[in-house]
Amino acid sequence: MKYLFVNCSRKISQIDRNIYGHFAEHLGRGIYGGIFVGADSEIPNIRGMRKDVVDALKSIKVPVIRWPGGCFADHYHWMDGIGPKNERKRIVNTSWGGTVEDNSFGTHEFLDLCEQLGCSPYITGNVGSGTVRELSEWIEYMNFDGESPMADLRRKNGREKPWNVSYIGIGNESWGGGGHMSAEYYTGLYNQYATFIRPYGNTRPYKIACGPDGADYKWTDTVMRLSGKLMDSLSLHYYTMPGYYPTDPYPWEKKGPATGFDKANYFRTLARALFMDELIAGHKFVMDRYDPEKRVSLCIDEWGTWHAVEPGTNPSFLYQQNTMRDALVAAVSLNIFNKHSDRVRMANLAQMINVLQSVILTQEDRMVLTPTYHVFDLYKGHQNATLLESYIQQDFIGTEEAQVPQLHASASAGEDGKVRITLANLSPDESQNVRCVVSGSQFASVAVRYISGEMDDCNSFENPSKISIHDMPDIAVDGEVFSIETPPCSVFEIVLS
Ligand code: AHR
Repeated sequence: MKYLFVNCSRKISQIDRNIYGHFAEHLGRGIYGGIFVGADSEIPNIRGMRKDVVDALKSIKVPVIRWPGGCFADHYHWMDGIGPKNERKRIVNTSWGGTVEDNSFGTHEFLDLCEQLGCSPYITGNVGSGTVRELSEWIEYMNFDGESPMADLRRKNGREKPWNVSYIGIGNESWGGGGHMSAEYYTGLYNQYATFIRPYGNTRPYKIACGPDGADYKWTDTVMRLSGKLMDSLSLHYYTMPGYYPTDPYPWEKKGPATGFDKANYFRTLARALFMDELIAGHKFVMDRYDPEKRVSLCIDEWGTWHAVEPGTNPSFLYQQNTMRDALVAAVSLNIFNKHSDRVRMANLAQMINVLQSVILTQEDRMVLTPTYHVFDLYKGHQNATLLESYIQQDFIGTEEAQVPQLHASASAGEDGKVRITLANLSPDESQNVRCVVSGSQFASVAVRYISGEMDDCNSFENPSKISIHDMPDIAVDGEVFSIETPPCSVFEIVLS
């Protein structure tokens, strides 16, 4: 038995709902087939967006989507994707497999998707091969309500009112595929772009600078020093790649399988996901030097597992299965983001549908909700709640190479007056009784929802509900104490009211 203590009197920081955000790139079947099938499709849709997918995304309260990339953003020219569809340019998606990109999903379609979902759009601007003028005009097109060349063009294309897009990324991975820039060179460009991204009406752009690759603290230091005053947020990219060792010369070739992995691989995956905690702490430490008031947020706008693609699928499409191991990666990552919510105010899972650690997989007219989807469902109550102090007693488990805590949790107090705890048992074979002591709050009932399974259980088109959410009834409360039996590989939402 292990103790979990939650102190409701110790309120720490607000958990921005955008921590539960997503990322959707023009990559493989992430957009086409995954969310957008076109208005003429036999698959039920609203203006081309799949109804089944939109409904599922609404149900987990997707707060924000980052688009159009990723690598794709740095060779995307937004004007190719507006106007009559039959006149839109057909280009080559040189980032992802050389496929034809017909631009049928462009600015209007993306912003329509966000309106259907009731979520915020986050646009990534092209710094790699675009211009300051191009990005500045894109923002004028989306946000200006008066008379101007871009606002008039938007009206001509059928949209009278501006969309008021606030979140603007300036470049993607500018240290790598986005231009192979040094941090000093990037900040020069960043400052120039940031200057010409104008506010329109009441919409002030929230400028997100390209941040480091994983543990590159020097990048963070340089960008904060030279551009910190001109940014609202700094991004961070970190993928959990279990199959390779840091000393491998070509780590991209060493991704492990998404299913059918062994326990050593399982623990290595979790250890690498848990590294996110150290990574955020390190970048926060650097950011605190330049911005002790924490005005600039950290935005982890690409995170998740990156496994080998499903056998027989296009290697450039990054289509992978999703198991309970991925669900646990999501559970610990989201707990970590909650716990760093004083600085982390947005995170975007890579990627929403059919790419990397997706919440949804599609095949023609069929859709599967992955175990990761269910974690987002179990955690959605944390959105905009207040982080509470919590402590969980631990055993460390795993292999000699990868030791991880058996239990992982975070807790929050919602605006609805309810206290929520999310809790994961990372052991692949040991259940654990958790005795929860929640002080500083009155509650009469405990509602528990959870998922559990074998470490490589997944949902497939043949068996779409192997992993699904269950209720755990009849939890007895004794004053401020109650107990929960957590099975191996499980994730819980516990709601006290
Ligand atoms: O998410 C896939 C790719 O990973 C993105 O396009 C890029 O930004 C990152 O390297």
